[in-house]
Amino acid sequence: MRKPLVAGNWKMNGSRSSVAKLLEGIKSGSDEFGAIEVVVCPPYPYISQVESLLDGSPVSWGGQDLSAESSGAFTGEVAASMLLDFGCKYVIVGHSERRSLYAESDQVVAAKYLAALDSGLIPILCVGETLEERESGVTEQVVARQLDAVIDTMGVGVLAKGVVAYEPVWAIGTGVTATPEQAQDVHRFIRSRIAAQDANVAAALQILYGGSMKASNAHELLGKPDIDGGLIGGAALKSEEFLSICKAAAE
Ligand code: PGA
Repeated sequence: MRKPLVAGNWKMNGSRSSVAKLLEGIKSGSDEFGAIEVVVCPPYPYISQVESLLDGSPVSWGGQDLSAESSGAFTGEVAASMLLDFGCKYVIVGHSERRSLYAESDQVVAAKYLAALDSGLIPILCVGETLEERESGVTEQVVARQLDAVIDTMGVGVLAKGVVAYEPVWAIGTGVTATPEQAQDVHRFIRSRIAAQDANVAAALQILYGGSMKASNAHELLGKPDIDGGLIGGAALKSEEFLSICKAAAE
């Protein structure tokens, strides 16, 4: 059985006071998290605050990105060891905003994935097609290419210690959610592609859905057999909304 995982990607949002308020809200509902894993990914400056507020709670935290390098003259970058130093357990890798706005190639994403694994962080690898790609019928090719870039580094075993998030770019922050069937189709494709190389890795892999998941649609999406949780953007900034999604995942 795969444990459901709900991860909040706060993106570039928040302040000291909003972080405190949001975490207070999330912690107040955390008694019901028993059967699921819950993670929040704040902007870097707030990770220390999150660590002190969540320490000892059932909620984990992680980074939204990391450098593929371990240390040195890389102005503005953050290394895996630094995230670990502040108690991070997870790190998002290859989010579509990193790929499109900061030109991260499949190869850069793969290098970051390995840097996370090497240090003991659990990478959440994001894959997904743009609207144009979906409309031209190449969704599976795009997702396969993004997965293969990581698998090709050291074999399919690298996915055994990570998480995959399927995030159709056209659904991110748009309010347009993939239908549960559309999402399930791609999740099934991802799992079967990995199963062709290693059935055990595929069976154990948590595959999250991301893209305008919210309280009102979480239940239906999370009810699909290959959807093991969610990577939540906008709805992760409101504690009641986020808690409702966690509740749906726990059911
Ligand atoms: P959204 O973002 O839930 O606001 O669509 C999801 C994500 O980008 O991870």
